[in-house]
Amino acid sequence: MHTITAIAHPNIALIKYWGKRDTARNLPATHSLSITLNTLETHTSVNFSAELSVDQVYLNKALAGNTFSARVSACLNEFRKLAGIDKFASVHTNNNFPTAAGLASSASGFAALLTAANAAVESPLDLRQLAILARQASGSAGRSLFGGYVIQHCGQQNDGSDSYAEPLFPAKHWPLEVVIAITSEQEKTTGSTAGMLHTAATAPYWQAWVDRSAEDIHAATTAIQQRDFSALAEVAEASCLAMHALMQSARPGLLYWNAATVELIHKIRHLRASGLAVFFTIDAGPQVKAVCLPEAADKVEAALANVPGVLRTLRCSLGAGARVVNDAE
Ligand code: DP6
Repeated sequence: MHTITAIAHPNIALIKYWGKRDTARNLPATHSLSITLNTLETHTSVNFSAELSVDQVYLNKALAGNTFSARVSACLNEFRKLAGIDKFASVHTNNNFPTAAGLASSASGFAALLTAANAAVESPLDLRQLAILARQASGSAGRSLFGGYVIQHCGQQNDGSDSYAEPLFPAKHWPLEVVIAITSEQEKTTGSTAGMLHTAATAPYWQAWVDRSAEDIHAATTAIQQRDFSALAEVAEASCLAMHALMQSARPGLLYWNAATVELIHKIRHLRASGLAVFFTIDAGPQVKAVCLPEAADKVEAALANVPGVLRTLRCSLGAGARVVNDAE
């Protein structure tokens, strides 16, 4: 067995996942719909070795902390069960963007990990099986296995067999662009899993949020299919704001935004009102992602870079799914 390296990109949800119908199996309570980005990358190398008595996990070139290593090992344990492997692995994972600051590093991380692990043992699992394993590791991770526009089904089965991600439309169907405004490089204070459990347990609007998901997915899918930017802007901003309102209604409320986040929301709405095709989405962190038509992207980036509190901007197009790469790449 030899070292295999895979690359995966973060994805951002336009229709959000927030909350679980089964915590132990990590089954989402809502469907979600995402776009996979390019430019931002996780590279993960996996080597299964009979010499190891435990998984060895390195994150950004340093030995990973216990929490991160335990999540990687838990994911590899599920993989080993299905693939019939009993060897431990050394895992080296590197992100070219801030880890755990609301840029979905866990999604690209688990998608790259499973893609590399599977290829390292001659690919016994198919993409559906990998999507289920990725979702078990992190609810948004199965979405990063695929490029372009991706849906994660919440599913109905208790065993999670119908809760998987699959591609909806390829990137070339409608090549949107994304400007990410970084407003903080700090790791978030409340991780997604803890935040979701707290929200489901205490937020009064929880059931309304769950009940709305299918309708929003339908509206977004139709908008993407018809390349109807205004319709997508409306439903994506609504899903994002509803998720944050839900979190804020938990007790105590979860507030991931800083002052610049709010400034950016106003700025993006102002830009759209003045004729630029752009809308915002925000995850469990203070960064703002501005999704736009390619012809609007330069103006959007210039405008957002000038908003007080914006540290820097990143520019992405829609990217490909997780894949094995040569060492040279
Ligand atoms: C706000 O997939 O990180 O980004 O399943 O607990 O690992 P776990 O959660 P995670 O949550 C992502 C939440 C979100 C919205 C989204 O990506 O849909």
